[in-house]
Amino acid sequence: MQPHYRFAGFMGKRVHLGVSGSIAAYRSLDLLRALLEADCTVSATLTESAARFVTPLSFEALGASPVYGSMFEAAPSGGSAFGHLEPGQEAEVMVIAPATANVLAKLAHGLADDMLSCQALAFPGPKIVAPAMNPRMWDSPATRRNWDLLDILGYTRVQPDSGHVACGDTGDGRLAPLENILIETLKALSPQDLAGKRVLVTLGPTREPWDGVRFWSNPSSGTMGACLAMAAVLRGAEVTIVAGPTALEFPPNATVVSVTTAREMHDACLDLWPGMDIGCATAAVADFHPVPFGPEKYKKGGIESLTVHFEPNPDILKALGESKTEGQKLIGFAAETSNLKEEAARKLDSKRLDLIAANDISRQGSGFGTPTNEMFVLDSAGRRETWPVLPKTEVAWRLWDHLQLG
Ligand code: C5P
Repeated sequence: MQPHYRFAGFMGKRVHLGVSGSIAAYRSLDLLRALLEADCTVSATLTESAARFVTPLSFEALGASPVYGSMFEAAPSGGSAFGHLEPGQEAEVMVIAPATANVLAKLAHGLADDMLSCQALAFPGPKIVAPAMNPRMWDSPATRRNWDLLDILGYTRVQPDSGHVACGDTGDGRLAPLENILIETLKALSPQDLAGKRVLVTLGPTREPWDGVRFWSNPSSGTMGACLAMAAVLRGAEVTIVAGPTALEFPPNATVVSVTTAREMHDACLDLWPGMDIGCATAAVADFHPVPFGPEKYKKGGIESLTVHFEPNPDILKALGESKTEGQKLIGFAAETSNLKEEAARKLDSKRLDLIAANDISRQGSGFGTPTNEMFVLDSAGRRETWPVLPKTEVAWRLWDHLQLG
């Protein structure tokens, strides 16, 4: 799982995981692990057919408790005699992944003929459903109607993926990426203090071409921006990411605009900015681009030295600051190797920022390609804080806490 999904701190919040009988049932074990890593507690129910693919013992061994099976078995250890009601009383969110066509139909119509369907019917909190089935079953009119009904009933629906499925067919019906299910689950456990806010995040490096195959760039992975974007999604914001070339993947509840050069990033951001409430510029934008040699590959041809000319790129964050309107907030980042605090203060002022987060990229555990950062945070009200080395997910969470949204 990429680092921008590794949120922790959901201390003790209980998730009830429902597993039904699809070959994808084994993937719910990874979902269980991801939820435990996020500091959730997890209970689970396996349908009778799920228990043919994976065993209750696997869930127990990884840390789920209690693990329910049949309605009329003795209550599992840690469970209650009213197992069909207990998750609805104790858990904050219920996730059914994978959900078969049969389970979708039961949920859509309120059937309650086994433990999982009873628990779902008796669950008053948010419910998330992630289907997995053969593409022809997924495409059948009955499943389509049940899927629409689940929307009307208030389920959060995680769309299945398309591709090859176990039986050899191709189409929609594969269990969605676990990251998509995880994000929806953690969102149901998060404060929705950014609900209604439109957030723009720039991230990653830019790539400035010089000839037909070569470019000028930097090693930014885009992780800090991705963490800010995911934290905003979890807290209810509508997030648009303008991403330079990165290997990062995002769930469908963030809009991604992919760009290559600083000038493309600039144009995309300036187009989007008037419709945004908050902008976060985490991208490591190249300050200069080479004057292109041309569309061909440059041939070395025996020369001993080569001079490449560079021209300045636009400062995207400065342009956003200059066109900032009343009520818009702007967060900048500063990656420095010296005079961290002075540089942060200068950039806060010159780029008209509301908050700047600066880090010394020469220090261990801070900067490009690391999953952690050590931040000096300064805002326009004069608040100054130095934070210890923290996971970038935690830095992102704290930055949203810190930004005064009043
Ligand atoms: O001036 P400096 O490049 O150090 O400022 C860093 C901040 O400005 C970062 O938030 C970065 O994303 C942003 N930036 C930008 N466009 C540039 C250069 C930096 O948006 N051309």
